[in-house]
Amino acid sequence: MTPLHQVIINKNTNLNPIWIMRQAGRYLPEFREIRKENQHFINLCLNENLSSEITLQPIKRFNLDAAIIFSDILMLPYGLNQKVEFKKDFGPILGELDIKEISKVDEIDFVQKILPVYKAIKKVSINNHTKNKNIIGFVGAPWTLLVYMINQQSPKKSLKKDFFKDSFLINRILLILEKFLKIHIKNQIDSGANVIQIFDSWAGLLDEKDLPNYIYTPTLNLVNFVKTLGVPVICFPREIKNYKEFCDIVKPDAISIDYNVDPKNILKNIKIPVQGGLDPKILLSDKETLKKEATKYLDIFKDHPYIFNLGHGVLPETKPEMVEYLVNIVKNY
Ligand code: CP3
Repeated sequence: MTPLHQVIINKNTNLNPIWIMRQAGRYLPEFREIRKENQHFINLCLNENLSSEITLQPIKRFNLDAAIIFSDILMLPYGLNQKVEFKKDFGPILGELDIKEISKVDEIDFVQKILPVYKAIKKVSINNHTKNKNIIGFVGAPWTLLVYMINQQSPKKSLKKDFFKDSFLINRILLILEKFLKIHIKNQIDSGANVIQIFDSWAGLLDEKDLPNYIYTPTLNLVNFVKTLGVPVICFPREIKNYKEFCDIVKPDAISIDYNVDPKNILKNIKIPVQGGLDPKILLSDKETLKKEATKYLDIFKDHPYIFNLGHGVLPETKPEMVEYLVNIVKNY
């Protein structure tokens, strides 16, 4: 059985698998090299030779237990014909949301538009470097995708002023998202993904009263769908106000935690397997601090099924040497 499955399915507490959010990315010189020659980010994601190569870069360097496919959560609005661009040092910029245009897209158009993502997963899953490792497919949660599609860029601290104004539009988009997220998840699994992670990066923007509408119900529908496909699903509702309530209602197979939440509290209140937590900024400090902080998480979760990861994506300024050091700490614990 693969390492993540041992923890998530068998609840094994004797091993500490590790993978790192954004492990395929800008902190690696070999990624920057490819990126330099490929200015158009979406086209890079749609180049199955390069995207599978990038996916394997961290696997070749470090003793990681899972490969996460090099793609982006915004491939979904892209597949629905909303314009998506990535501006250097700014982040994503999306075009005007045209509900008529989006409603015209059918499953065949969508799959055709992002087909290379599935081909890349297939390539990675049959590569020798991923033998006995997990292949993580992923999607953005409906709420986080809604945020990007309406806000048209990262919200940083707050949403557009009239974000919630058109509730009819919001409900229609949520239904469309549910349909295509299921298609996207199923195709990733059919291509070889054997774990699914749902990224809800902007869960922390919502007040508790809005969680059922925008997070619990739409995410529960997706989680139940993934479960019918027999693949474990990890949820990452970043900075959500109440992780316990989220787990009780949505019931993912594992929960990924951010770095602002107290891991001791999580251990006390949450019974399902846990992933992540370490602040990515710790990787910018020194080895001694890194060892101390990583060991803190390993100690707290030593008798709980735990997958080592960070509390958000690895920062671009991280030295690969520090990632290697971290992997060794976890493996030698
Ligand atoms: O984790 C991995 O290595 C797999 C690939 C992956 C990317 N994005 C590649 C990427 C994954 C899993 C994502 C998820 C993603 N994308 C999320 C959820 C996780 C999170 O970080 O909160 C979100 C919100 C996005 C949207 C997105 N994509 C933003 C906001 C940005 C710009 C900011 C940034 O971090 O650069 C991206 C671009 C992006 N996606 C890059 C990578 C490697 C950087 C591209 C570059 O400029 O080279």
